[in-house]
Amino acid sequence: MIITIDGPAGTGKTTIAEKVAAKLDYRYFDTGAMYRAVTYLIINDKINLGNESELETLLKQFQFDIRKDEGNKRYFVEDQDVTTVIRSREVTQHVSEVSAKPIIRAALVEIQRRFGKKGDTVFEGRDMGTVVFPEAELKIFLTARPAVRAERRYLELKDSVTQSTQEDVLQELLKRDHFDSTREASPLKQAEDAHLIDTSDLTIEQVVDRILALIKRSK
Ligand code: DC
Repeated sequence: MIITIDGPAGTGKTTIAEKVAAKLDYRYFDTGAMYRAVTYLIINDKINLGNESELETLLKQFQFDIRKDEGNKRYFVEDQDVTTVIRSREVTQHVSEVSAKPIIRAALVEIQRRFGKKGDTVFEGRDMGTVVFPEAELKIFLTARPAVRAERRYLELKDSVTQSTQEDVLQELLKRDHFDSTREASPLKQAEDAHLIDTSDLTIEQVVDRILALIKRSK
């Protein structure tokens, strides 16, 4: 069974998708981390986003992997652990622009679909229910009030090196949502057959329970 969880940043997608996958003993795939990893490589290798042949070469060699290390998930590009660097402010500021490129989306969607063939998986992202797995058995779309989402992101980032204020985080998040929702290639939007859950006033456990109840009902 394929379960898709889409929605904007700060709705709790990653934590919720991971917990749902663990409860069901399903695989879990964070597609945002993939777009972040490509963005990191583009910045690091100083690739010009307008240069399609350089992008093609990069995408052909791109090897992304999620591994478990003592219960924690780590993200790898080939043998490099990129778990921390893909969350940097620089990557966050550029990832929307990178993920709007059709050539990049096409390559990553192919990897995601290949992974989906391995069996039961919870896929988390922006276009999982609309484009990548339109036939998924259960689709969830998470939302939350912008101020709540910004506060969650701010608390996540507070201990890292970034000097952002909560207002900076809110403004960057709104800018990224706008870009992700209005781009031409696979914009962020709710699939018609997705279940909408507003997580603003719910705990993680409450959202997970709702999703598990929906799964039970759909079987
Ligand atoms: O979930 P996240 O914040 O880590 O995602 C980072 C960016 O990647 C987000 O701004 C939009 C993009 N993304 C996408 O375009 N399609 C996906 N399936 C997942 C993420």
